[in-house]
Amino acid sequence: MEYVVEMLNIRKEFPGIVANDNITLTLRKGEIHALLGENGAGKSTLMGVLFGMYQPEKGQVKIRGKEVKIANPNVANRLGIGMVHQHFKLVDNFTVTENIILGSEPLKGITLDIDKAAKRIAELSKHYGLNVDPHAKIEDISVGMQQRVEIMKMLYREAEVLIFDEPTAVLTPSEIEELMKIMRNLIKEGKSIIIITHKLKEIKAVADRCTVIRRGKGIGTVNVAESSEASLAEMMVGRHVSFKVDKKESTPGEVVLKIDSVSAKNNRKVMGLKNFSLEVKAGEIVGIAGVEGNGQSELVETITGLRKMESGKIFLKGDDISNIPIYQRIEKGIGHIPEDRQKRGLVLDYTLESNMVLEVYKKPPFAKYGLLNGAAIRNYAKKILDNFDVRSGEGAASIARTLSGGNQQKAIIGREIELNPKLLIAVQPTRGLDVGSIEYIHKRLIEHRDKGNAVLLVSLELDEVLQLSDRIAIVNNGELIGVVNAKETNENEVGLMMAGVSKESSV
Ligand SMILES: Nc1ncnc2c1ncn2[C@@H]1O[C@H](COP(=O)(O)OP(=O)(O)O)[C@@H](O)[C@H]1O
Ligand SMILES: [Mg+2]
Repeated sequence: MEYVVEMLNIRKEFPGIVANDNITLTLRKGEIHALLGENGAGKSTLMGVLFGMYQPEKGQVKIRGKEVKIANPNVANRLGIGMVHQHFKLVDNFTVTENIILGSEPLKGITLDIDKAAKRIAELSKHYGLNVDPHAKIEDISVGMQQRVEIMKMLYREAEVLIFDEPTAVLTPSEIEELMKIMRNLIKEGKSIIIITHKLKEIKAVADRCTVIRRGKGIGTVNVAESSEASLAEMMVGRHVSFKVDKKESTPGEVVLKIDSVSAKNNRKVMGLKNFSLEVKAGEIVGIAGVEGNGQSELVETITGLRKMESGKIFLKGDDISNIPIYQRIEKGIGHIPEDRQKRGLVLDYTLESNMVLEVYKKPPFAKYGLLNGAAIRNYAKKILDNFDVRSGEGAASIARTLSGGNQQKAIIGREIELNPKLLIAVQPTRGLDVGSIEYIHKRLIEHRDKGNAVLLVSLELDEVLQLSDRIAIVNNGELIGVVNAKETNENEVGLMMAGVSKESSV
C-alpha cells in the first residue's frame, strides 16, 4: 500500500492541554480521507502539524515514505502539501490572479508575468472544473468562489496532498455539492485529500476512509463504506446517539412576535436588514435559514433591543416594543440565547450561580428589602445546572470562564428556558456541542414550544433548521426571500432560496 502521508504517534501540546495525544493518520494516494471529531478534538492542530504550522513534541511525519521535518508552511508547500484554512487568507481588493501568485515562491530573478499566470489559472480552472475568473476581484465574488480560489492556489503550486479544514461550514447546500464534485475531480487527477469535518453526511458522501479523534486521542480509522452514520457518531462522542428530532404537529395560537417592515444598518453602516416582516405564533418554532452574515444578527439584535432600527415596528403580543429598552423587553417575556455566548451570554468572571440569576436577582425570592438571599439563589442555580447537565469543577461556585464552551452554552440555555419566556430567540443554540447535547437541547426547545411559547430559531446548520422548525424563513442579503412550511420543503429548495432564488408561493 502506497501512503503519501504518514503521521505516526503525533503528540502536540499547548499550555495546559494535550491537543494531540499519540495520534496516527495515514493517507493513501488518490483517496479522500475524512478527519472526524467534535469541536476541540484536535483536528486543526493535527493538520497544522502536517502543514508546518506547529512542531510536534513527539512522533514522526513521512511523506511518500521518507521521514521529513516540516519546519514551516513553505516547507510543506515544497513537499507538495497545500491547505485551505477555515478562514480564507485572501486579500479583498486584489484579483484572483494576484492572490494566487502572491506568496508563491519567488521566481529566479524574473518579474512575475501576470498574463501568463492568468492564462495558467484559466487552464487549471477548466481542467478541474473550478470555474474561477482569473481577473475577478475577491471582494466581488461569493464565498464559495473564494474557496475555489484557495483550491486554485494549491493547484497552482502543484500540491499533491490537499487539506481542507471544515470547508463546508461557510457554503450553501448547492455549493457543498459542487465542492464534492470538485474533490472527486481532484482525486481522478491523482491528488490525495484530507477533509476535516464533523458532518457525518458529508463523510458518507465523499470519503473513502475516516480517522476519528476524540479529546486529542486517536479512536480509530474505518472504511466509510462499511460504517454507518450512527457508528461514526458513536466513535466521535463515545456513546450511542439518536439523530431524529421527535416532535408532534404544532398547534399555533396567537401571534407573539410581529416584525413589520423593519430595516436596520449593519456594523459597516449599510442596510443589513431590509424591509423585513415576519410573524411567530405561540406554539410554533420559526427557523431562520441563511448563509452567515445575511442579516441574521441584525434581525435578532433589533428584536432584543441591542440594535437601533432605521424604520419599521416590532410588536410583542400586540404591544409595540420598537423603542423600549432591553430590560423591559426581557420583562415582557423575551428570552435570548445569544450568538456570542462569551460576550453577551455570560459574565465570564462571575460564578455560575451569579450568572444563573443575571436577569432576576433583584426580584423576590432572590432579593428582599434590598438584600440578596444567597440560599434561594443557590437552589435556583443548582436546579438549572442539574437539569441541563452543566459540568464544571465546582458546581454552582465555578467561575464561568473555567467551563468548556459546550457547558457554558448549556448553562445559558438552561437559564433562559427556566424563565419561561413567551418568545425565545435561540441563536445557534447547539454550536460547539456534541451530538448528545444537541439531542438534549433540541428536546428542550420543542418542549418550550409545546408549552405554548413562540420560538425563533436562528441557525447556520440547515439540518437543524429543517428538523426543528415548523416554518422556515429564508434570508439573503438582508431580505426575506420567502417563508415555507418545514414539512413541505427540503434541503434543495431552502438551499436555492438561501442563494437568493425566491419562490413564487410563500406561506
Ligand atoms: N494555538 C493554540 N494555543 C493554545 N491552545 C490551542 C491552540 N490551538 C488549539 N488549541 C486548543 O487545542 C485543542 C484542540 O483544538 P483544535 O485542534 O482547534 O480542535 P478542532 O479543530 O478539532 O476543533 C482545543 O482545546 C483548543 O482550545
Ligand atoms: Mg478546527
